[in-house]
Amino acid sequence: MREKILSEIGQHGDLTFPEYLEMALYDPELGYYARSDSQVGRGGDFYTSVSVGALFGQLLAQRFAKWWEENGSPQTWRIVEIGAHDGKLAADVLGYLHAYFPKAWQALEYAIPEPLPRLRQAQHERLSKLAKKLNIASTMASISAHPLPGIAFGNEILDALPFHLVEFYAGEWQEIYVTTNLTFTPKPIDHASQLAAALEKIGTDFPQGYRTEIRTNFPSFLRNVSTCLTDGLLLFIDYGFAAPEYYERSRAAGTLRTFSKHKADEDPLVRPGEIDITAHVDFTDLAAAAKTIGYAPTAFSSQGSYLTHLAAPLMLAGELDDPKAIAQFQSLTHPGKLGSSFHVIELSPGGEISSTVAHRLAITQ
Ligand SMILES: C[S@@+](CC[C@H](N)C(=O)[O-])C[C@H]1O[C@@H](n2cnc3c(N)ncnc32)[C@H](O)[C@@H]1O
Repeated sequence: MREKILSEIGQHGDLTFPEYLEMALYDPELGYYARSDSQVGRGGDFYTSVSVGALFGQLLAQRFAKWWEENGSPQTWRIVEIGAHDGKLAADVLGYLHAYFPKAWQALEYAIPEPLPRLRQAQHERLSKLAKKLNIASTMASISAHPLPGIAFGNEILDALPFHLVEFYAGEWQEIYVTTNLTFTPKPIDHASQLAAALEKIGTDFPQGYRTEIRTNFPSFLRNVSTCLTDGLLLFIDYGFAAPEYYERSRAAGTLRTFSKHKADEDPLVRPGEIDITAHVDFTDLAAAAKTIGYAPTAFSSQGSYLTHLAAPLMLAGELDDPKAIAQFQSLTHPGKLGSSFHVIELSPGGEISSTVAHRLAITQ
């Protein structure tokens, strides 16, 4: 991967950080996500809420079934999962819907856009007997060719979307490029660019050398996802914050992290293709991107509080009494584990923003 990146730089010049990430993570042969399907879990590089156990998918399935019931129980509906990896979360969702919401399950198409052939095969193997209708496609476009009502969601997908790196020097933002010998070089930012427009929102009150990340791809990502649905809900779970917390002056080195064998590090230029490279999600920016496609944030809370709310009826019915489920619940919701660093956002078409959500996302209405 390193050779391929260096050759690209030699031929076409320095790479912006999103261009570098596109290669290092998503090159179809040598990119980190293309190389193996075992990044997630004990033997891989990082855990996600899916690795904790089936409870995560079961609680999300409750939310999905509630959406189906509240929206007139459509005869045909769709769940689109983006970044479904090896299909484990899909299996947990489908298994729960089949057992507890059989009518919703009967009417459901479970769709997965998955560019990598190896993952498509793993998903088929795991899910073909669990879904009434399975639609695993190499592109989002082939799913959106036949939009249906429903929900599109992804766990830890937004943090995996490529991002720009910027640094603050002498009163100005500079963009960090990747140059020969895989080192960083800062360059001035074109004032007419999307990046410049995004930086205008976060201002210039930062200390010298402050480094952070900016995603300019949220609008196009959300637009693509939303075209899979005629009408419905977008739901994302990820680590991140609202803008004021993301761009705190004290967070001077940003949130970029690399993961390899469960060790976090900060240098994304070592071993491209062999390490995961991510940055937290600016949920305020995501909500602004949603507005450009006519969606609004209708819920935003910590994973702990969101899942506790979903689990309440199960607890009252005594269905969460088994020690394995209790341990999973604690890992998913405890603030010291996954409960407070992860957030859940729901985006709905034409939705009203409540004052609580506006406050949490620092949106002025
Ligand atoms: C951190 S993993 C999360 C996997 C899984 N959702 C989980 O929670 O365990 C991120 C996944 O998103 C996928 N991904 C990133 N961008 C994507 C896109 N635009 N479309 C579909 N999948 C994407 C990657 O290939 C990878 O499998």
